Amino acid sequence: MTVTWTSGYNIDEATPLVEWGWKGHVKKLSPAGTLTFTRGSMCGAPARTVGWRDPGFIHTSFLKDLWPNTMYAYEYRMGHMLKNGSTIWSKSYAFKSSPYPGQDSLQRVIIFGDMGKAERDGSNEYASYQPGSLITTDQLIKDLDNYDIVFHIGDLPYANGFVSQWDQFTKQVEPISSVKPYMIASGNHERDYPNTGSFYNTPDSGGECGVPAETMYYVPAENRAKFWYSTDYGMFHFCIADSEHDWREGSEQYAWIEKCLASVDRNKQPWLIFSAHRVLGYSSNEWLANEGAFEEPMGRAHLQKLWQKYKVDIAFYGHVHNYERSCPIYQNQCVNSEISHYSGTVNGTIHVVVGGGGSHLSEFTKINTFWSLYKDHDWGFVKLTAFNHSSLLFEYKKSADGEVYDSFTISRDYKDVLACVHDGCEATTLAA
Ligand SMILES: [Fe+2]
Repeated sequence: MTVTWTSGYNIDEATPLVEWGWKGHVKKLSPAGTLTFTRGSMCGAPARTVGWRDPGFIHTSFLKDLWPNTMYAYEYRMGHMLKNGSTIWSKSYAFKSSPYPGQDSLQRVIIFGDMGKAERDGSNEYASYQPGSLITTDQLIKDLDNYDIVFHIGDLPYANGFVSQWDQFTKQVEPISSVKPYMIASGNHERDYPNTGSFYNTPDSGGECGVPAETMYYVPAENRAKFWYSTDYGMFHFCIADSEHDWREGSEQYAWIEKCLASVDRNKQPWLIFSAHRVLGYSSNEWLANEGAFEEPMGRAHLQKLWQKYKVDIAFYGHVHNYERSCPIYQNQCVNSEISHYSGTVNGTIHVVVGGGGSHLSEFTKINTFWSLYKDHDWGFVKLTAFNHSSLLFEYKKSADGEVYDSFTISRDYKDVLACVHDGCEATTLAA
């Protein structure tokens, strides 16, 4: 488990540490690393000009050798040991350790994008850019006992170069992220800035060019400046791509995506999830429809063969601020007429837009898209529940009431993942 927090202490003033262990047992201390970033590491305005604010010091500690998924909760607190030997402590928090990869237990995952932040008193929100942010946050806080891990797939605070807004956002999600793994993807509002290597040449990050997100959020990427990574949660294997860097065939990221998808043992981890901030699959969003592709150009053309070859169950996207679910798709066709209960051979990937975390909502096109099974122009999030290796429940909930508005189940066995489908069959030989 990784713990990250912010303070005003550099390492020459105090030593950061985390005290942790099972509740009621002897605690141990773990060291923390300290990072910061400077105005000079911002790529442009306003982050480098009127939006700049010193972020203080960002401390990250790795709590290692956890017993997987134990019956005991772990508790922890962050501290700073001062030069006079005394230690200043935070309050205590508790978390449940993750299941062992492949372990059979009840595992519940929350996924959404584009949440943003807002003021509870309504001040400073004249633009009302993320009007659903607080209802999503509050619904997830209310439901803390009923899920295990969160994926916020890009566009976090929409600080857009006003760096203090990162503190506002991390404060807003702290009741969640202090007790659950809070995993992120990189969005355009984290990363994009002209002439900085982002795949899109837009100024959406306001000059941050990824630096605050890559410093404040630890993800198990080889290089956090290239924000793609894989992570496991029990029976789930996640491949989190970075749509703000080139994903096309031949790129460094494409090779990584293939490696990530190929490296999962589906007998142990049957539920294979792909995600990226922008819609690389399917969306009936108005502006994507007007461009004629119903996706970010060059998404499917390059990645579809990987989703198909490795039998990705579900692909999640944000960026488009609404909810939409597709049929299982193979070669741009629906391969299953079922709507709510999928069973047997894995023969297509279901594409889900879940970008209604809180930002201003996106309109759907009036064009009827044959692959679209459910659309919702509202704020909400997805919950995945793996009951065991054969049974998965998918639920879409509205942020406003926490009720389920769309759902389906998947029932199958390992042989159904291995089974030959379409043209994606493994080679065989007649030799005996
Ligand atoms: Fe976005």
